[in-house]
Amino acid sequence: MGQMERLQKVMARAGVASRRRCEELIAAGLVKVNGKVAREPGTKVDPAADQILVRGKGINPSSSRQYILMYKPRGYITTMSDEKGRRKVPDLLKDNDGRVYPVGRLDYDSEGLLLLTNDGDLTHALTHPRHQIPKTYQVRVAGMPDEIRLKQMEKGLLLADGPTAPAKVRLKGKKDGNALLELTIHEGRKHQVKRMCAHIGHPVMRLKRTSLGGLDIADLKPGQYRHLTGDELKMLRRKCGLGNNK
Ligand code: URA
Repeated sequence: MGQMERLQKVMARAGVASRRRCEELIAAGLVKVNGKVAREPGTKVDPAADQILVRGKGINPSSSRQYILMYKPRGYITTMSDEKGRRKVPDLLKDNDGRVYPVGRLDYDSEGLLLLTNDGDLTHALTHPRHQIPKTYQVRVAGMPDEIRLKQMEKGLLLADGPTAPAKVRLKGKKDGNALLELTIHEGRKHQVKRMCAHIGHPVMRLKRTSLGGLDIADLKPGQYRHLTGDELKMLRRKCGLGNNK
C-alpha cells in the first residue's frame, strides 16, 4: 500500500482544481473513491491504489506540475469559462500548457502578472493571508491624491468588508493631472485596489500588477507567458513555508 493522503490534496495535485475548489467538489458529492461517493474532504486515500473519479472521470494523481507566469492583457477574464463569451486567459495558452488554474484573479480590465498552476498546494499557500505574500500594482488614478489620503491608504482604510491591512503606497508620477501610484498589499480581496482608491476619492483608471511574491514580468509583453525557473519556484515555495521537494 502507498502513503495515505487527504483526498482534496491528491485531487489538487492531479490538476483537478485548487484545493479549496476540490473541497467544494467533494462536499457536492461529485467525487467517488472506489465506487462510493466521498463527501468528507478529509477522506484519506492511497493515490497509488484507490480509484478516484471526479464527475465520473478518473484523475491522474501523478500528472506533472506546471507553473506559468503570464502577462495578462486587459480585456481577458481570469476564470476558466465565461457565460458572457468574453475572451479568457486559458485562450492564450497553447494546448499542451492546458489544465492550469490562476492563482487569485485579475479583473477583466486589469493587466499584469498572473501565475497559473496545477499545484493546488502552492495555490493554497500563496493565497493564504498567513503567508503575507506581497503583491505590487501600478495604478493610474483619476486626479491627484494628497499626502493625507495616501497616508490613510498606507495605514488602512475601512472598506465595506472590513479594514484593510497596512499597505505600501508611493506616488510615482503625474500625467495629465492624474497620479501614478505604486501600491503593495498583502491581501487579496475582491476588487481591493479599486475599492481602496475609490475610497480615498480617486477612482482607478488603469491597473497593472507588476509583482507577486518576488516574481515580476519585466521580460514579458501583454499576452506572453513563460514557465517559472527552478530558482523562482524554490523562492516561492520558501516564502510560503513549503519545503523544496516538488
Ligand atoms: N485589485 C483590483 O481591484 N483589481 C484587480 O484586478 C486586482 C487587484
